[in-house]
Amino acid sequence: MKKIPYGRQYIDQNDKRTLLNSLKNNLITTGPYVEKFQEKLKKYLKCKFSYVCSSGTAAIHLALLSLDLKKNDIILMPSVNFIASYNMAKSMGLKIYLVDVDHITGQITPKKVSECIKKNKLKKIKVLIIMHHGGYPENILNFHSLKKKYNFFIIEDACHALGARYKYHGKFIKIGSCKHSDICTFSLHPVKTITSGEGGVITTNNKKISNKIKLFRNHGIIRNFKEYWKYDILNVGYNYRISDINCALGLSQLNKINFFLTKREKIFNRYYKELSNFNSNLKIPKYSKDIKPSFHLFLININFEKLKKKKDHFFNYLKNNKIFPQFHYIPIYKFSIFKEKKTKLIDSEKYYKNTLSIPIYVSLKEKEQKNIINKIKKYFV
Ligand SMILES: Cc1ncc(COP(=O)(O)O)c(C=O)c1O
Repeated sequence: MKKIPYGRQYIDQNDKRTLLNSLKNNLITTGPYVEKFQEKLKKYLKCKFSYVCSSGTAAIHLALLSLDLKKNDIILMPSVNFIASYNMAKSMGLKIYLVDVDHITGQITPKKVSECIKKNKLKKIKVLIIMHHGGYPENILNFHSLKKKYNFFIIEDACHALGARYKYHGKFIKIGSCKHSDICTFSLHPVKTITSGEGGVITTNNKKISNKIKLFRNHGIIRNFKEYWKYDILNVGYNYRISDINCALGLSQLNKINFFLTKREKIFNRYYKELSNFNSNLKIPKYSKDIKPSFHLFLININFEKLKKKKDHFFNYLKNNKIFPQFHYIPIYKFSIFKEKKTKLIDSEKYYKNTLSIPIYVSLKEKEQKNIINKIKKYFV
């Protein structure tokens, strides 16, 4: 058996052909594929404005930059998340509060957000970042109610959730439509729903925010299109552009998104059938029926204490069988970079102790998945 990672890209002949085609154009940085990809994403996600950029991290940074935030403005975000949101907020001098997560799903909930606000006696909260962990966008409508109550911006870190939907007025609408948030960001890293190699997407329905994103993405430059040699710099900006070559791949991948989502769902269903009722010490998160996920991750929660084993033991066991699960994620307050006062959030601790994600990706073969399931089951005998 060859090594089985937790995730990987799926590239076909069409992707390769489109990629090679992009090299024939005169413009290989901001060229026709950038425009085409942005337009296609806008139509697919049903938002007013959609921009592509160099990474999911850049997308989060652009989102924060577009909100006119000041040093020490208050921002809330999940304690369990990839480090990107934290790093970007920190680099802008924002005052960050980490919200505890549900100990099984690893997601923040409206209740946990309210508890964090009360516990820290917070006033004038500027931003809440929500993260659709694993591609399961729970509680969006309730987060939106909190937004109305506290008057903060909501940024969706939807890096896991391209293609995911949630129910609103009896219909499923896409994450990225920004119906219940101000800005939504995606990553196009190879393990995500679709990839452009490296890349990110940012969507909004707000014209002012949209204009800011465009400026910050390209050094703050504004051009005079009639006299193209003249330009001005309106604010300090960045080079967060993405190349046409990357966008050619992204566009070709977007054409296959339904195939990708169906494949992932099949893998999810097989795991669910085999593992959800197999042993009382192994739990699979139960998600709401009002969502249609992107199935980015498959999380399993094992009661290692009852098994009298440690999580590392399980990781090593799978690794020795050429299966490579992953932590998603180590709570942010555990990293050396975290300098705020000592923090230990109860449910984040439980989540961290017991949860890991097992391989799920489009090209995972049924035979490989059966092997993973068998190895996991064997661990419990
Ligand atoms: C939840 C989440 N946010 C942000 C990012 C950052 O995206 P990128 O790697 O494209 O910069 C990732 C990437 O792994 C992620 O999983």
